[in-house]
Amino acid sequence: MKSKASAPGKVILFGEHFVVYGVKAILCAIDKRITVIAEKTKERKISVKSNIGRLELEKNTPLSEINSPLKPFYYLANKIIRNHETGIKIIVESNIPSGVGLGSSSACCVAGAAAISRLFADTTREQILKLAIEAEKTIFQNTSGADCTVCTYGGIMEYDKKNGFTKIESQPNFHLVIANSNIEHSTETVVAEVKKFKEKNEVEFSTLCKSESELIEGVLKALKENNIKEIGNKVIQNQQYLEKIGISNNKLRDMIKIGKNGSFGAKITGAGGGGCIFALTDKLNLDNTVKQFKDNNYDCFSVRIDFKGLDTF
Ligand code: MEV
Repeated sequence: MKSKASAPGKVILFGEHFVVYGVKAILCAIDKRITVIAEKTKERKISVKSNIGRLELEKNTPLSEINSPLKPFYYLANKIIRNHETGIKIIVESNIPSGVGLGSSSACCVAGAAAISRLFADTTREQILKLAIEAEKTIFQNTSGADCTVCTYGGIMEYDKKNGFTKIESQPNFHLVIANSNIEHSTETVVAEVKKFKEKNEVEFSTLCKSESELIEGVLKALKENNIKEIGNKVIQNQQYLEKIGISNNKLRDMIKIGKNGSFGAKITGAGGGGCIFALTDKLNLDNTVKQFKDNNYDCFSVRIDFKGLDTF
């Protein structure tokens, strides 16, 4: 018997990094997905095959001995089959670029948790999310949980660590153009650098958290009014806060400058230090924004919001 699940990637629209310290973030799922197929095997091993590599290990291998980005799959499989006389074969198919802030690892954790757990029980979305966050913590201990949450439920949502998520019901009519710096980053490393910045600059960081919270309230209002120009202004303002905490670089700044030319605003999305930026457009300036990036030889594509979230087959 095979079990199959797929989960979308994500874009953090507002509030990355600050969300780790309790500030609300706004994020959405995107129409790029990861699919995971899990199958029980007689051989009592756990094997994972994906476009970023392979892993094959005996059951009960200590996690500290595993140095692979596929570790979350191993964690999930080993936890779930602990009391079963079986092994597991996992196949991962992805159309989300990895390591660039678009939620590929969270989507892996969510689709992995669903596909593996559903070989044995009818797990709910809530149970799957809990497992996915535990799995994500094997590679990134300090996660806010925001990414796995949006990959599970889809749509556009506000999220904070204390209260979890609330879906934003308005269906915004904006488009997002994603440009990829093709500089891979480790979210864990960039989050650790921001922590250092915070520890050296406690007062400035707490002022920035307050400003970010106010900005997010303004965005929620603008979203209700479908005021794309105002949302674009907030995108530009949010980028200034991200510049202050040191997660930008010259290449990202150049991309943001190009993105701003044709669109309502552009900013880093996700951990930064590399990865992607997005430009906020409507139907009218979408093509021109894509053209600006392409003319400057940047890898770019437009995405739509995914309203489905986790899907199981
Ligand atoms: C990474 O996509 C988003 C961060 O805010 C980390 C997190 O929320 O766990 C940088």
